[in-house]
Parts: sequence; structure tokens; C-alpha cells
Amino acid sequence: MVSGTRFPKHLTTGRSSKNKLQESEIEAYGEEVVEKYRKYVNPAMVAILKFAGLALPEEDASGVFIRDVAGNEFLDCVGGYGAFSLGHLHPKVVEAVKKQLEKEALKSHYFMSAELADLCELMASVLPGDLQYSFICNSGTEAVEGALKAARIHTGRTGFIGTVNGFHGKTFGGLSVSGREIYKEAFHPLLPGCSLVPFGDADALAAAITPDTAAFIVEVIQGEGGVNVPDDDYFPKVREITAKNGTMLIIDEVRTGFGRTGAMFACQHYDIVPDVITMAKALGGGVMPVGAFSANADVWNSLFGKNPYLHSTTFGGNPLACAAAIAAIKTTIEEGLVERSRVLGQKLLSGLKEIQSRRGDMIVDVRGKGLLAGVEFALDDIAALAITGCARRNVLVAYSLNNPKVIRIEPPLIIEESLLDRALEAIDDTVAETAEMLAMV
Ligand SMILES: Cc1ncc(COP(=O)(O)O)c(C=O)c1O
Repeated sequence: MVSGTRFPKHLTTGRSSKNKLQESEIEAYGEEVVEKYRKYVNPAMVAILKFAGLALPEEDASGVFIRDVAGNEFLDCVGGYGAFSLGHLHPKVVEAVKKQLEKEALKSHYFMSAELADLCELMASVLPGDLQYSFICNSGTEAVEGALKAARIHTGRTGFIGTVNGFHGKTFGGLSVSGREIYKEAFHPLLPGCSLVPFGDADALAAAITPDTAAFIVEVIQGEGGVNVPDDDYFPKVREITAKNGTMLIIDEVRTGFGRTGAMFACQHYDIVPDVITMAKALGGGVMPVGAFSANADVWNSLFGKNPYLHSTTFGGNPLACAAAIAAIKTTIEEGLVERSRVLGQKLLSGLKEIQSRRGDMIVDVRGKGLLAGVEFALDDIAALAITGCARRNVLVAYSLNNPKVIRIEPPLIIEESLLDRALEAIDDTVAETAEMLAMV
């Protein structure tokens, strides 16, 4: 796929790749980048990307499309694992960041930051319940680190409970409470006193909590775990059990926050307010890396009351990040993207279920909420073939780190309905092709 495989013009943004390479130069340029990856970045990754038919480097992106250096245009249904809820280079976010850049990029930390104050105020206005204070950092896993520290200091306890197949990032703290051993085993000992319970099982949580459990950390819908949606009564029970035991509830909305599931925050589907919430990805509007954790005044007092520098960061909450996040939240509200995600999500889910009804031999389950959908295949290998088959059809769907049988479809919330149809068509064709291939073996 070297010379510009494109969607029909009416379905694209009409932008062409900025790369000025001649067709004859593209392959050599691709090989040059591959060589640098082999030598300086990550050799094993090259093999995987080549297998997926993604042998050329990414060149640019706008809206829901990503282009490689040859001008091949891909419909982005991975959405930066949730980071591109507003698509790529949303003009309102770009504009806000440019404007801020003309003024100041990073703060001295000697003075207060009006941009940070504005962002935290805006966040308090959209966060559930009494979650009023926010700490802004640079990534999801940093947000999780901060949340875990807040729980320890607030409760005076040390232990944490996470969920089987849960995912909270790859720092030592994030890994300690994440739920797939393959990513943890090489790095033991991790944080002491951490255990896992099955996701969706409130009785298991009740049985696992000890007097030393500082917090239960959980995603509302497990993303990397394979888009696992719990029963409706799970989170109300979790809230009750944690409160009764003096254990804090940390809800990780790094992936699900800011409209992804058809609510501003996924925990709002279940009408619960956590003690701490973590966010990242979509918070940066797809333009800046931004993470955050938020809690109520009591928790904040425990964390910062005696020493306002007990938890800090050099780059977190910088003015560019704040400008992006403010624009991202405002745009999400102004453009009605939470509702859009809910409505389009229903269409996506019913389209996928329709495919499943014809392909029950290949697809075991289809699930999701809003524009976060998962398709569970009968085997890991079928899911891998489905990802590469979709990529060959210029539609990017995601691999699930903690459940390789599941592919995820999480497009930008701004996606047009006709393009969602296009994605469904690509998945349908890919599943049919994969079934034929398997029948031949
Ligand atoms: C629920 C959840 N928490 C935490 C993280 C870690 O975020 P980051 O990759 O920004 O460190 C992720 C990343 O996918 C995530 O999905």
C-alpha cells in the first residue's frame, strides 16, 4: 500500500498529505525510518507494524483521518485510545494553544497560574458531586500515581485493590494495581499490599477488603481489559461497600472521561460519586498531553494541607496544557459531543451486533457504551487478523492489551454517521474474509 489508497473524496476532509516526497522516494524513506526504529527505538515493534500492513510512518492527521507518508488515508477508530475524542487538530483547541503559545508556554512556578485556576474551576463545574479540587499532570498513569498517594495519606492505610484485567498505566504504582501479569511479572516487587478481584463482582470486593485497604481502584468500563461493562447494580454496591469499610473509591476515567461513553463521566451512568477520579487522554483535546486527578476538599486537605508541595510536578498544568484542556472541555459541551457519543454509540453497537448475528462462529460477544465498543472473537488470532484486515481496508481499530481476543472501536466523538457505516462495513468485510481464510486452513 504505497501510492495513496484513499477514501472516496466526499468522505474525507479533502486535505492532502503535506509530505512532498516523490512516489519513488517513499519506500526508501519508509525503510530509513524502519531502520532507525530497529536501531534506536524498538526493533520488535517494527515486525508487528509491518505485519499489520503499516510499514510507512504516519505523516499527519486531521479530523477523523490519519495519513501516512504515501498519502494513504486511514479512518481513525482507535482514537488515540480515547485521546482523540475531538478528532485530530480540532481547530478550537489548536487556536487556544496557539494563542497561549504567543503569550507563554511554561510557567516559572514562582507565581500563581491564572490558566491553571481557570481549568480547575471549569473541571469542578463538570465533575460529579463534591469533586472540587484538581491536580493537573501529564499522563494517565501519573494521575493514577497521585490518586494512590492521596488515598494512602487520607486513610493512613497502605493496601490497594484493583481488578483482574484492569489497566491503570505502566509506572510502578499503575502496574501494581493493573490486572494482567504479563506486563507485571518482569518488574516485581511492585507496591506491597495490592490484590485483585474480578471486575463486576461486588461480593469478591467485599471479601477482599481488609482494615488496611486504602482504596479500590477501578475503571467504570474496562478498556484494555476488553470493553467490559458491569451489571447496573455493580457500582452502587461498590460505592456502598467501600464507604462502609472506610476504603476510598478511585474511579479511573482516563479513557472514559469527557463523553466517551455517552455521559460526561462514565460513573454518572450509575449515579455514583467516587472519592478520587483520574482523567487524561481526551482532557488534552487531542493536542496536548494532559492528565488529572480530582477529589473533595477533605482529601485535598490530607494531601496538601500540611505541605502544599507534598505532591508536585514541573510540567503538569503548564499554560499550553491548560489552554488545550479548557478548550477541549468547552468544545465537548458546545458541540453536544456527550449526547452525540450516546446516539452514535447505539448505532455502532447495533451495527456490530448485526454482524455478530451473522457471524456467531467468529464473534463471541459485542459490548460497549457510547463510542467505546468491543468485539470479542473466538480466538486471539482471529482478533489479530481482524485488526490487520481492517487496516488493509484503511480503518484502524485497537488491540486490547489485557484481552487480546477483543478489538476495540473507539472513534472520535465527532465522527460522521456515514463514516461509522464505513467502519462497520470494513469490520464486516474483514470478518467475512477471515472466516474464508480459516475455512481454507
Ligand atoms: C483506564 C486507564 N488508566 C490509565 C492509563 C494510563 O494512561 P497513560 O498511557 O496516559 O499513562 C490508561 C491508558 O490507556 C487507561 O486506559
